[in-house]
Amino acid sequence: MNRIFSGVQPTGNLHLGNYLGAIRNWVALQRDFDCIFCIVDLHAITLPQDPAALRGSTREVAAAYVAAGIDPESCIIFNQSTVPAHAELAWVLGCMTPLGWLNRMTQFKEKAGKQREMAGLGLYGYPVLMAADILLYKATHVPVGEDQKQHLELARDIAGTFNRTYGTDLFPLPEPQILGTATRVMSLRDGTKKMSKSDSSDYSRINMTDDADTIALKVRRAKTDPHPLPDSVAGLEGRPEAENLIDIYAALSGRGREETVAEFAGAQFSAFKERLVDLAVAVLGPIGAEMKRLVGAPDHVDAILAHGAQRANAIAEKHLAEVYDIVGMLRPRVKSS
Ligand code: AMP
Ligand code: TRP
Repeated sequence: MNRIFSGVQPTGNLHLGNYLGAIRNWVALQRDFDCIFCIVDLHAITLPQDPAALRGSTREVAAAYVAAGIDPESCIIFNQSTVPAHAELAWVLGCMTPLGWLNRMTQFKEKAGKQREMAGLGLYGYPVLMAADILLYKATHVPVGEDQKQHLELARDIAGTFNRTYGTDLFPLPEPQILGTATRVMSLRDGTKKMSKSDSSDYSRINMTDDADTIALKVRRAKTDPHPLPDSVAGLEGRPEAENLIDIYAALSGRGREETVAEFAGAQFSAFKERLVDLAVAVLGPIGAEMKRLVGAPDHVDAILAHGAQRANAIAEKHLAEVYDIVGMLRPRVKSS
């Protein structure tokens, strides 16, 4: 059986990269796979979070999933901390993950920055918790943006280590699914930097809840270069801002890169940007409006998450029991007389 697992951290400022690199692709997958979509709040606290903001962001990510078109009945939508087995499996897997593997993780190096000795154990162990998220459900496919590729390779290595150590085939090796033409959406202010929730400039990203005027302002202010758009894909080489805006247009319109380049060959950025504004507003406007409506109805969102937690726990508890059994944990039972 094929099962999908993926997640987003509730750390605020959900943006176009999260939508095009992840959430939008999930909508199409739900027809063909058994899907589990998580809001990874335990991952969020690997960096400091304000408690009230964390709760709000958790509902906002759930709202984004539903507003983008994920069906909370056919898919499971839940927040990670409501299923204790994630943390429990992470412990087991952490005991068999060599430090050498974790030392190679580039995201830890970026996030820890210069104060490496001050970084928390949770930030270091982040990829082990991510492996636990996936393996807990025996997921076979994991749709993510390009930045998660290294973490997924580690999850495969950890699954293989567990299976070999205990002579079992309990865990399938999860396959990354890096889909679409915008697997790495770049900052609107600097085409060599990833669009990110944590960039200090709000002009670097289009947020999923931005209104039409804000989207227009951000696109018009987006960094460009002084030349007209090229007439071939090869002409995007060495022009990161042009490449990024073309890729965003291609992804939003559902057309390929070649077709998009051909359509705007020789155009000035100003004219192209107006078309991009119209397209971005047409795609994101209704999703942002629905997100705001859902966030304004927190009881409804909480009911979706509670229902998801119940279904996720049923699978997770069964699989964790299998793991504990394989590892040799005694499960004492009191005989009823
Ligand atoms: P995060 O915001 O780190 O929780 O990421 C959630 C999902 O969005 C993951 O699948 C990421 O790979 C994806 N993602 C985040 N930023 C980008 C980006 N700039 N371009 C494409 N995908 C992204
Ligand atoms: N690390 C992912 C990110 O920041 C989020 C995540 C946590 C995840 N657990 C996961 C993604 C399991 C896919 C599968 O983008």
